[in-house]
Formats: sequence, C-alpha cells, structure tokens
Amino acid sequence: MALRLIVKEGEDLLTKKSRPVEQFDQKLHTLLDDMRETMYAAGGVGLAAPQIGVLRRVCVIDIGDGLIELINPVVTKTAGVQETAEGCLSSPGKCGITRRPKKVTVEFFDRNGKKQTMKGEDLLAKAFCHEIDHLDGILFKEHVICWENQ
Ligand code: CO
Repeated sequence: MALRLIVKEGEDLLTKKSRPVEQFDQKLHTLLDDMRETMYAAGGVGLAAPQIGVLRRVCVIDIGDGLIELINPVVTKTAGVQETAEGCLSSPGKCGITRRPKKVTVEFFDRNGKKQTMKGEDLLAKAFCHEIDHLDGILFKEHVICWENQ
C-alpha cells in the first residue's frame, strides 16, 4: 500500500469524466487500498480515484461507520433536501453550505465485482453525492449556496 498525492482544485484532471472499471483484479484492489490509506491519512470522509490522478469510477467513503468501497456507483434514488456544510480534500480550507438530497440510494459493485445496493441518509447521502460527482468531473463548489470562511 502507498499513500498517494491528492490532486488539488485547479488541475484539469478534476474536471474530467472517469471511465468505468471493467476488471476486478489486483490492480483495482491496490488502487482501493491506496485510496483508503490516503483518505484516512488526510482525515477525510471520502475520496474518489480522480483525486489521486486515476480517471476510473472508484471511490471510498468512511463517515465513521466503517469503510465503503464503491466501484462504478450510480445514484438510483434520492429524496428530500439537506443544506449543510461541505468541503473536499482537493479544496483545502474551503467550506460551504451545499444543497444535497437528504436520502440517497446507490447501486455499485464491490471489489469482487458483486453488485450491491446501499441507502444513505444525511452525511452518508451527502458523501455518496459528493464522491460520485467527482467521477463526472463535478466539484462540490457547484452545489454551494453559501460560502463559509471566506
Ligand atoms: Co471531494
């Protein structure tokens, strides 16, 4: 496992669309392991592959309830609205209130290629949306309705 450098806002890579994962092999597992280590070392609750320079549809999330690994994730259902503070490891020091769904259902594959469905509320719903946005080159600033600390 290795810690990877986190790409910062302003770099082109973060605005690009990532490609789906096709092979659930050791290379993917190493990527997931590196992403987990990098996220925990940086003290984040989520990290998407483009943030370490890999344009693949992979993200990791841990809001304090354990690690979630999402491969080729898709939001299939949303409900409600939350307006809460949000930041990003690629935008250090920036924080804003975003408008996001309060409940989100995602479908994805786990590291072994098994299809999974998961529901998230509040912080987890926000993390799902934030990380999946990264895979489409969308940064949280596009959802900010009011900036803080600026
Ligand atoms: Co982010």
